[in-house]
Amino acid sequence: MKAIYPGSFDPVTFGHLDIISRAAKQVDHLVVAVLHNPDKKGLFTLEEKVELLKEVTKNIENVEIDSFSGLLSDYATQKNCSTMIRGLRATTDLEYEMQMALTNRKLNKEIDTLFMVSSSEYSYLSSSTVRQIAMFGGKVSCFVPKVVEDALKDKFEEAYDNGRRA
Ligand code: COA
Repeated sequence: MKAIYPGSFDPVTFGHLDIISRAAKQVDHLVVAVLHNPDKKGLFTLEEKVELLKEVTKNIENVEIDSFSGLLSDYATQKNCSTMIRGLRATTDLEYEMQMALTNRKLNKEIDTLFMVSSSEYSYLSSSTVRQIAMFGGKVSCFVPKVVEDALKDKFEEAYDNGRRA
C-alpha cells in the first residue's frame, strides 16, 4: 500500500517525524508531500522545506519527499495514490481535519484519509510555535532535529542582518 502524508512542514518538527516514522511502518511506500496552504505566510521556501525533509528522513528507506503547487486532490491523481495520512494532535484538530478530508473526497471520490494519533509528547507542538521561539532566540532543540535548528538560526540571523542594514 502507498500513502501520501501532505503538509506545510514549515519547518518539519519531531511531531511530523513521529507521524512519518510510524506511518512508514504501516505502508509499503510513503510520499511526504510539501503543499501550499494559501492561508499561511511561510518562513521557508518550498525547496528549503523539501531539503530539510530529505535530510531528516534519509534513514527511512520507504519514504519519498516530494512537493506540489496545487490541489491535493489533483496531486493524488498525479501520484496515482488515494490514501492520505494526517496526524491528529488533539480533538481540536478534528473539525479542521474532517472538513479537509471530506472536501478532498468531494473533489476526488477515490481519496480516503487515515488519521494517526500523535504521540502524547508532541500533541502540543506546532511549526508556528517553533518558528516563534526561534525568532526570539529561544532553544528549539527539543522540538526539531539539529539540521532544522541550524536552518532556523540562519533564517533569523539573515533577517536580523537585513533589518540592521536597512
Ligand atoms: N506534530 C506536530 N505538529 C503538527 C503535527 C504533528 N503530528 N500535525 C500537524 N502539525 C502542525 C503543523 O506544524 C502545523 O502548524 P502551524 O499551523 O503552526 O504551521 C499545523 O499543525 C497544521 O499544518 P499541516 O499539517 O501542515 O496542515 P496545513 O493545514 O498547513 O496544510 C495542506 C495542509 C498543505 C495539506 C493543505 O493546505 C493542502 O492540501 N493544500 C493544497 C491546496 C488544497 O488542496 N486545498 C484544499 C484542501 S481541502
